[in-house]
Formats: sequence, C-alpha cells, structure tokens
Amino acid sequence: MKTNLALIVLAVLGLSACSGQESASEATVGSASANVASDSSAGSTPVAVEKVDPASVPADCSVTVESSDQMKYSVNEIAVKKSCEAFKVTLKHTGTMPVAQMGHNIVISKADDASAIASEGTGAGPDSGYLNIENPAIVAHTDMIGGGQETTVAFKTNALDPKSSYKFFCTFPAHFGTMQGDVKLVD
Ligand code: CO
Repeated sequence: MKTNLALIVLAVLGLSACSGQESASEATVGSASANVASDSSAGSTPVAVEKVDPASVPADCSVTVESSDQMKYSVNEIAVKKSCEAFKVTLKHTGTMPVAQMGHNIVISKADDASAIASEGTGAGPDSGYLNIENPAIVAHTDMIGGGQETTVAFKTNALDPKSSYKFFCTFPAHFGTMQGDVKLVD
C-alpha cells in the first residue's frame, strides 16, 4: 500500500518593521543584511496534485465543456488563467446514449503522457471508468458520464508546469483520437 506524504513547509516570516525612525546617522550604507535568496524554483520537483473543492473556485476560473452522442468536445482548447489559484472544469454530456456506449470524461495530463494514459484506461475497463486513477501522470480527471449527465473537477493550477504542454482528453475506448484538445496557461 502506497502512501503519499505531502510535505508542508511552513515559512515563518519575521517582519521587522522600521517604525519610521529615520535616524540622521551617517551610518554605513549597505547594512541591509537580510539578503534572502528569493528564487528557490530550481529543480522543479513535480507538485503533488491536491484535491480542490469545486464549489470554492470562482466563475472566472472555470470552464464548461460540452460533449454529445458524437465523439467530440465543444472546444479544442481550455485556457487556464495564470492568476487562478485553482481551476474548475465541468463536462456536460448533452446526448442521450448511456455511459456504457458513449461515455465521456475529461482527463488532463502532459501532452506526452496522454496517449499512454488513454491506452491504459481502455485496459482498466468500465468498472474503473476506463481510467487508472492511480497513474501519477494524471493532473486532474472527471468521472466518466453518459447522456444527460454532468461532472466537475477542480485542481490547483500550480500542478501545471508553465514549461510543459498539456492536453485534455477522453479515455473511453476509441475516443482519444477525436476527443482531445490543448490545455494552456494564459495571462
Ligand atoms: Co468520450
């Protein structure tokens, strides 16, 4: 049994307030000794994906994607604002076919991982919603739904590396070819 430990680092900042005493001393310049290294982004360890309550995500950090009895999404791209701390994706299935015949979901991963996740999903079978949710390459995923249903997922946007390309796609068997698009971080 695997256990993921999320390490939370609490940085306690001691703020020293200079309370307006502009001393007239001709003290040495360069006495600002608190020169803290502010950029610790080197190494880019993957950020553990955190669960986010969709209800907590504001409307301008949300998108609704529709799908139907055709193997298509209503959009080719999902634009995620960099200013959004979290982002919410809602998938609506406007068709009438049941999930067993025309299931749709939305899975988000790096573009390079998408095909393998979809293939693995086919192998995972219907009981697992055609998705191995244990795959750490999955950034976020909705449930697999059928006609008339709706599903929502929210995720922390810091799970998206600005230097990488991401895709959203459906892992229902044979849907990956036509049901995919780009997930882009935008200003
Ligand atoms: Co589908």
